[in-house]
Amino acid sequence: MNKKFIIFIIGLMSMALLALVFIQGYWINNAMIVRQANFVRSVNEAVDGVVFRLEKSDLAGRLQSTINYLSDSPQYMAHDDSIYDALNHEFRDIDNSGELEAFYNKYILSLEVKDRQRIHEGFQLIEKRLTYNLIDSLLRTELHKKSISAKFQFGVFSTERGKMVLRTEGSDLSVLLEGAYAFTLFPGDLLEEPDYLMLYFPNERGFLIGQMAGLLVISISLILIIIFSFTYTVLTIYRQKRLSEMKNDFINNMTHEFKTPISTISLACQALKDKDVIKTENVYDAYIGVIGEENLRLGAMAEKILQSAVLEKRQLELNKEWFDIHEVIADVVSKIGIQVQIKDGNICTDLNAEPSKIHADKVHFTNLINNLLDNANKYTPQKPKIGVSTENVKTGIMISIEDNGIGISKKNQKKIFDKLFRVPMGDLHDFKGFGLGLSYVKVIVEYHKGSIWLESELKKGTKFDVFLPYES
Ligand SMILES: Nc1ncnc2c1ncn2[C@@H]1O[C@H](COP(=O)(O)OP(=O)(O)OP(=O)(O)O)[C@@H](O)[C@H]1O
Ligand SMILES: [Mg+2]
Repeated sequence: MNKKFIIFIIGLMSMALLALVFIQGYWINNAMIVRQANFVRSVNEAVDGVVFRLEKSDLAGRLQSTINYLSDSPQYMAHDDSIYDALNHEFRDIDNSGELEAFYNKYILSLEVKDRQRIHEGFQLIEKRLTYNLIDSLLRTELHKKSISAKFQFGVFSTERGKMVLRTEGSDLSVLLEGAYAFTLFPGDLLEEPDYLMLYFPNERGFLIGQMAGLLVISISLILIIIFSFTYTVLTIYRQKRLSEMKNDFINNMTHEFKTPISTISLACQALKDKDVIKTENVYDAYIGVIGEENLRLGAMAEKILQSAVLEKRQLELNKEWFDIHEVIADVVSKIGIQVQIKDGNICTDLNAEPSKIHADKVHFTNLINNLLDNANKYTPQKPKIGVSTENVKTGIMISIEDNGIGISKKNQKKIFDKLFRVPMGDLHDFKGFGLGLSYVKVIVEYHKGSIWLESELKKGTKFDVFLPYES
């Protein structure tokens, strides 16, 4: 895929995602507004119920006091009976303000005693007509019926006296006066200035958000899932792209690496076939030697590639035995030492592990050391000074291989154990390889329950530490 096209697609998807988040936010905000309106309506209905009940209970008290008053005045006994009956029957069944008003007009206003009664009762202070606990319990019941469980504070405001005569302990007076819902108390009292019930919900917003928790959680989860999938997809595209580039490099490398020995072999064969070339014993030996060597090189390369395929499928079977790692190291050092000496360098060994025998797969261990030393030599173009050391740690042996080569940047250090990864060298093609060595080393170390890590600085050198347990 073209890089520009990928960037375009990512940009498009990011914009769509952003728009989605925005639209979602818009809908949630709308839903919040609707909930808020519902909340206000429910509070209104609930408090209407409270105001009605307060008025009814107030009227009941007044009726009772009328009866008591009339019973002392024999000339009104007739009224007494009718009001008593009314109180017992009709009054109980009243369940809305309209009925209450009708009842009031029928039995109280129609009575001639109305004025007398008013004189008898005198002007009653609002706090005498209701109690804090009564309002509190009525509010609780009515709000509960409307499924409003939010905490509330309330107060009763007397307009005539211009002050709050009752209020919830700890409530803020100014908030109650300014931020609360206000309802007229005793709306039937047409002659007096109205008193108000002020109701305030300190955590109204939290309560509304709490009610939308389900919607919010689902929305946020969906958005997170989309962001996660999007990021994952983008990363996968990049990973695939990098992998395909690495594979291309690998194929190019491989073709190149195979081509040299193949052409050398074919040249040697041609020379052997050529009738003009005088074939002495020495010439034969030389050509066959070259063919043999190149053949071995080809075989080793093919083996390396095949092995990495086996590792990929995790089908490796270890053939463990007890052996002395110092012997193996010495063997590999002597082989690679020749190439190091050609470059005017040397390999120093400092093998201190005691005991130095481990239970592991000897062939793979040999390859492991070979790969690390081969890299140390390959990536140190001038006068390699390579150090190989071993020492004991509690449960195993630590092997260190150090060089004074080109080093690896911090960024690339994380990737060098990836299969096919090679540090990009720009136009330099001095370092031949497939990028398979270290991934193989890592897998082998893991198969032996060991670990590998490195320290490296650009242009200074690299040190690989391998820990292998005595017995895995
Ligand atoms: N000692 C080292 N110093 C500097 N760079 C190193 C060293 N060892 C490895 N690297 C970097 O890590 C990369 C991966 O190494 P690895 O051994 O896996 O592959 P390779 O050497 O390129 O190929 P091969 O499969 O033939 O070993 C190398 O291409 C090189 O860039
Ligand atoms: Mg290598």
